[in-house]
Amino acid sequence: MSLEHHKDASLRFQQQVDNSRDYVIPFIQQEFPELRGLRVMEVGCGEGGVLAPLLEKGCNCVGVDLVPYRIELARNFLGQYSQNGQLRLIAKNIYDVDFLGEFRNSFDIIILKDAIEHIPDQEKIIGHLKQLLSPRGQVYFGFPPWYMPHGGHQQICENKFLSMVPYIHLLPRPLYKGVLRIFGEKQDTIIDLMDVKSTGISIERFERIVKRQQYKITQRRFYLINPIYKYKFGVNARKQWGPIAAIPYVRDFLTTCVYYMIKPEQ
Ligand SMILES: C[S@@+](CC[C@H](N)C(=O)[O-])C[C@H]1O[C@@H](n2cnc3c(N)ncnc32)[C@H](O)[C@@H]1O
Repeated sequence: MSLEHHKDASLRFQQQVDNSRDYVIPFIQQEFPELRGLRVMEVGCGEGGVLAPLLEKGCNCVGVDLVPYRIELARNFLGQYSQNGQLRLIAKNIYDVDFLGEFRNSFDIIILKDAIEHIPDQEKIIGHLKQLLSPRGQVYFGFPPWYMPHGGHQQICENKFLSMVPYIHLLPRPLYKGVLRIFGEKQDTIIDLMDVKSTGISIERFERIVKRQQYKITQRRFYLINPIYKYKFGVNARKQWGPIAAIPYVRDFLTTCVYYMIKPEQ
């Protein structure tokens, strides 16, 4: 069942703005209480809604997204900030751009909100981001862990039953693909879902990469109910219960969203 926000860009933008203002920014402010004047980059910015409240607070922002159409939408929604020089929008693959030439040691905050699970070779990107950070810089991540009930993004399925069945994305690849075909999903949707299956990231794997790439976790929050569901489905956010959050692997299956701030070890 593809939902209204999958088709309506203004609605999606507004949901990004509300979620960013109410949840993402207060989380980031635990590390950066004063945001004015900070340099921020969002990788996978989509329509730009996550950046909007940061722009309102006086940050200087760069938004990067692979899909030119989404960058075009961001330009429409955030035109005033492009015009006053506070925002630059770049339609490029994060791996294609020579960011290092232009942005080495530039950003106080780099944001990957619902993006890391779409980007291949997460070890490479997480390592690479370090070079773009300023000396006090940190990276924020928000993502749905792979093993959670809908970690495969199957809610984008047209078929209502498929879009609601939990854990179906954990089937072996050929079986999962076969099921999607039998239920009549479009080829584009199947490609998208198989891409997420290739790149999906669990809590445990994320933390292993962070450690191997010599970062330190400065903030971490697990949600039983993802804050974005409030704006998409009217269900209130709920933090994960402490004892569950403390059990590796088990927490992966029961946590619908995680937020992290990480910074390079000195
Ligand atoms: C689910 S959307 C998230 C949009 C927004 N950050 C939000 O929280 O709503 C993920 C975005 O990441 C972008 N993306 C995926 N891979 C990328 C890459 N390699 N480089 C830049 N952007 C990428 C996609 O085009 C998409 O717009």
